[in-house]
Amino acid sequence: MEGFLGTIYETISTIKLRFSTKPGGSVSSGQLVEIIGDNKSKTHYLGRVTGIERKNYLIDQDGAVQLSTLYEDNEKLNSEDIGIKGDFQDYVICEVEIIGNRKSNGTIFNRPRKPFKIGTKVYKASSDFLNDQLKPWGNSIEIGKFRDNKKVPIHIDLNELISKHFSVLAMTGSGKSWTVSVIIEAIANNFDIPILIFDPHGEYSSLKIPSNKNINQNTISDKVKVYMPSDITSKERSDDMFKEKFGIDRESELLHVNITELETYQIIHLLRSLYDLSEAQSRILQAGWTDIIEDPELRNTINIEKIIKKLGDIGSDVVQGPSAKNILSTKLRILFNSMPFIRKSTSDTPLELNNLVKKGQISVIDMSGIEVIHQQALMAILSSKILKSRMEGRIPPLLMILEEAHRYIPSGAVSTASKPTIKRVAQEGRKFLMGMGIVSQRPSRLDDDVLSQCNNQVIMRLTNPNDQNYVKKVSEWVADRDLEEIRSMVPGEAFIFGSAVPLSLPIKVTKDRLTKHGGYTPDIIDEIEKY
Ligand SMILES: Nc1ncnc2c1ncn2[C@@H]1O[C@H](COP(=O)(O)OP(=O)(O)OP(=O)(O)O)[C@@H](O)[C@H]1O
Ligand SMILES: [Mg+2]
Repeated sequence: MEGFLGTIYETISTIKLRFSTKPGGSVSSGQLVEIIGDNKSKTHYLGRVTGIERKNYLIDQDGAVQLSTLYEDNEKLNSEDIGIKGDFQDYVICEVEIIGNRKSNGTIFNRPRKPFKIGTKVYKASSDFLNDQLKPWGNSIEIGKFRDNKKVPIHIDLNELISKHFSVLAMTGSGKSWTVSVIIEAIANNFDIPILIFDPHGEYSSLKIPSNKNINQNTISDKVKVYMPSDITSKERSDDMFKEKFGIDRESELLHVNITELETYQIIHLLRSLYDLSEAQSRILQAGWTDIIEDPELRNTINIEKIIKKLGDIGSDVVQGPSAKNILSTKLRILFNSMPFIRKSTSDTPLELNNLVKKGQISVIDMSGIEVIHQQALMAILSSKILKSRMEGRIPPLLMILEEAHRYIPSGAVSTASKPTIKRVAQEGRKFLMGMGIVSQRPSRLDDDVLSQCNNQVIMRLTNPNDQNYVKKVSEWVADRDLEEIRSMVPGEAFIFGSAVPLSLPIKVTKDRLTKHGGYTPDIIDEIEKY
């Protein structure tokens, strides 16, 4: 075998041991090693260097004291002058933790039952061995390579990733949107799973543009459909900007829903947070809104006055005097008119869920330019409609991506129109194969229930201690030593923790994109030139 590193001189348990290199040997912290067991089948075990020390048998502590005294007296003196040649003949002693051996198609690593024999050789884990140990067990996607060995691709199990939800957490600019796009491309390139992206910055429309290298490669681009939940002027402006930037028509569609798509708690929440609601006004909505959304005629109306009239009739039974009703009517009118995606004319076609969630389609909802509170309302409406339709089997299984998720599912007592629904999707979506990918740069500001329902985490560079501790708290998979690595990762590097990978290793997410990246960090010098 190639890649000899050293020899075991001490075993602490069946899965902990120490080995030493020869003088001049080199091992790095975190390095993966391969050790052959002395069982009958000569199982190869994978291990990880968890501790490392460099020593020299000519210089112990006393020797160093004496050397220091000599150097102090004569600064020009160095080790060669006193007979210590070359690199001091340092050797490296390493502590290793055994991960185990994974049988093909197994999901777990089996550990050795007996300690390794003293004198056993330790090798660098070979590419072939790593590829064998990391082999996917079902349908999977490749998103990059093992950071420390480019010959080892990293696969994620698709079923685990989508059906058990995932999160992508990292500081701004670390490559979250890039990684999400790589995941989307890999899925769309190989499977027909519908993907729905809530895109607050309008950065995912560029999935329509094949990257230069793959100019004839339209498999992804053809699948992308962009929806604009905005007014026609904003849509046209945004389409023009896209054309100017990429030279291709975006062919986006306006997205419209009836106001009656808002459930009672959602409309109360919206009105309360936008314009404040008195107790009497909430009571009217509580008493009447369900009747309105269940009324076959009102359900599809574009006339808010008809809704207000019916609410007024119901209101008369629950509150006294006209003032609460009148003020509520005014607030409803303002809400109706201010939300750009609410149907206001018969030419506004109501959204068909079957068109939004469709086999082989990537639907991008470009929410840039609409207020956050309206974005929350839209997310609430769509995700609850989708969950209901999934439960009834009316639409195919899907993956839904939430970028800037802290805006929609904030932590603690802060409520938003979208939070209860997203919590429900996090809990119940799994059973109905409605997967969610949660993306955020501030994990500690995300709702813990939703985050802890994500069985897989893609973690990239995170330096804020609150965020790191939070990630550790919500994920059973993250170890302290992983946090060390996460602190010092560079953009494009990631760890994947959870059920979709056999082992969490540092990954270099592929830089070879099939489509153009839409997320960008503005450069002040470039921008200033435009003025
Ligand atoms: N795997 C990668 N390979 C090559 N370049 C990358 C990779 N990941 C990220 N980058 C570079 O880093 C930049 C920022 O990445 P990205 O837009 O994904 O950051 P982000 O984490 O989504 O940031 P934000 O929080 O601001 O949305 C990209 O424009 C790209 O140039
Ligand atoms: Mg981003």
